Amino acid sequence: MKGSVEVEDLSVVFKRRDQYGPLLVLESTSFKINSGEFVCLLGPSGCGKSTILNLIAGFLKPTKGRVLVDGQLVEKPGADRGFVFQQYSLLPWKTTFENVEFGLKIRGISRVERTELVNDYLNRVGLYKYRHSYPHQLSGGMQQRASIVRALVNSPSVLLMDEPFAALDAQTRHMMQELLLNIWSDLKSTVIFVTHDIEEAIFLSDRILVMGVRPGRIKETVVVNLDRPRHIDTMLSPDFVNLNRQVFELIREETLKSMELG
Ligand SMILES: Nc1ncnc2c1ncn2[C@@H]1O[C@H](COP(=O)(O)OP(=O)(O)O)[C@@H](O)[C@H]1O
Ligand SMILES: [Mg+2]
Repeated sequence: MKGSVEVEDLSVVFKRRDQYGPLLVLESTSFKINSGEFVCLLGPSGCGKSTILNLIAGFLKPTKGRVLVDGQLVEKPGADRGFVFQQYSLLPWKTTFENVEFGLKIRGISRVERTELVNDYLNRVGLYKYRHSYPHQLSGGMQQRASIVRALVNSPSVLLMDEPFAALDAQTRHMMQELLLNIWSDLKSTVIFVTHDIEEAIFLSDRILVMGVRPGRIKETVVVNLDRPRHIDTMLSPDFVNLNRQVFELIREETLKSMELG
């Protein structure tokens, strides 16, 4: 089984050119994620969630500490880690098919194999019909589905997702959450999902790493023992409501701090 992630004693200091001087964003943060686990990083805006994800992706180098994926030191981005951004990030001049195909082409996968793989994935998320459409012809939800399959088609052992549904309306967001869980239950890759939405974190994850602010760090780990498969009804169960209350209290304190009110 692939997809284990070890984050060891990570600190990040951003040098700033303004009067405030260096900013300690992340301080001595450590955690481990097992193969196939679905983990959410939850915390208020500005607590360092994207920074952690960017470190695991290899987009950013830590000031101190290290990240290991399957025991290998992360030094740069790699095909073992797929990334889905919050903002729609498909190439506007390529069709859905071409966008999803792009990574496979770069890796030298044959045309026949590419076509089969891409069509299979587009089918899974209901986009086969739209394979020749351009991003501007797709809704926000469709563009994010395309972004997810663009990452998955390369069979990453770890899928990194940075608030991928934040820009979607509530109805579409719920459908995307269920769709993501369905895909994940088939593929069993590790997912690290960043969100500031408590219900989203509980609905999706096996475990929630609740982050604190100033400086960012993991404040608490909450295990989510809700049965799978999960559906919208899961959100109405007493266990869900209890977890929601528990996590809400943890987050509330940090949100006040991040708003400089606490
Ligand atoms: N490249 C950078 N240079 C300076 N400050 C940054 C940079 N990237 C992020 N920050 C700051 O670091 C903090 C954490 O950012 P980020 O990880 O994006 O938070 P989150 O994703 O939790 O909202 C914020 O205060 C942000 O303004
Ligand atoms: Mg962010």
